[in-house]
Amino acid sequence: MENSTSINIKAASEGNIIDGKRIAQEIKDELKEQTAKLKEQGMKGCLAVIQVGADPASSVYVRNKKRACAYIGIESRAYELEEATTQEQLLELIGQLNNDPQVTGILVQLPVPKHIDEQQIIQAISPAKDVDGFHPQNVGALVSGLPGFVSCTPAGVIQLLKRSGIAIEGKNCVVIGRSNIVGKPMAVLMLRENATVTVAHSKTEHLEEICRRADILIVAVGKPKMINASYIKEGAVVIDVGIHRDAENKLCGDVDYDSVVSHVKAITPVPGGVGPMTIAMLMNNCVEALMR
Ligand code: GUN
Repeated sequence: MENSTSINIKAASEGNIIDGKRIAQEIKDELKEQTAKLKEQGMKGCLAVIQVGADPASSVYVRNKKRACAYIGIESRAYELEEATTQEQLLELIGQLNNDPQVTGILVQLPVPKHIDEQQIIQAISPAKDVDGFHPQNVGALVSGLPGFVSCTPAGVIQLLKRSGIAIEGKNCVVIGRSNIVGKPMAVLMLRENATVTVAHSKTEHLEEICRRADILIVAVGKPKMINASYIKEGAVVIDVGIHRDAENKLCGDVDYDSVVSHVKAITPVPGGVGPMTIAMLMNNCVEALMR
């Protein structure tokens, strides 16, 4: 009797965890099928990944991106440039790749070293090959509701919500964070899905109170375990975009998972939530790029 009760409770508590790893795999499998069909029609893609310097976290991301390309069946080329690479050298390489018909997608892993002007680099990439969706032309297209590449992490959050059967339309959504890569495009995408959107940030007053109004709380604040139960409305959906290492060197997010999990309708874990979706959506953009 005791046993069956504990099994039921476990099942219920696992029911509210959004499995980003599984959903990302599902998307990559769909893309793999699509690239195989495109190959039969003579269309194949190649992603050029540029890394400047040897930041260990960036090296892990770059390796995972190359692996995902191999999995879904598109070629990848890695350009591992030394830390001392100049702005001019990097611009020269981007120019060559823009003009190379074999190359269908280009990304420069961020952050770049301090002596490099990140915005100028982003703007040098041809918008038609900008699979990160960072070029102002793609950002403008998103805001205007026109076709273009959408930043991968916020696009991944939308897929997580939709594929988990979570309704967005008409809901109060609070996004914490206003970065170009996550917060701003996230807010625009939620608006496009007809949510009522509030963007909060480090200067926001009464943050807890604002967050407690959210049906869907998307956290990209960049502070380990900052969001505890006092920020959460009972039954809210919580999406945690953060990734950090805690005092015990374990991966954790911006949300204090253990403190909030019993209050939420659904939550993304770290790791295994938003992270895998970023790469799945990058692959989605790579397939879109090769079809253009
Ligand atoms: N650094 C952190 N996230 C990203 C991303 O999505 N794309 C690139 N190019 N660099 C990043």
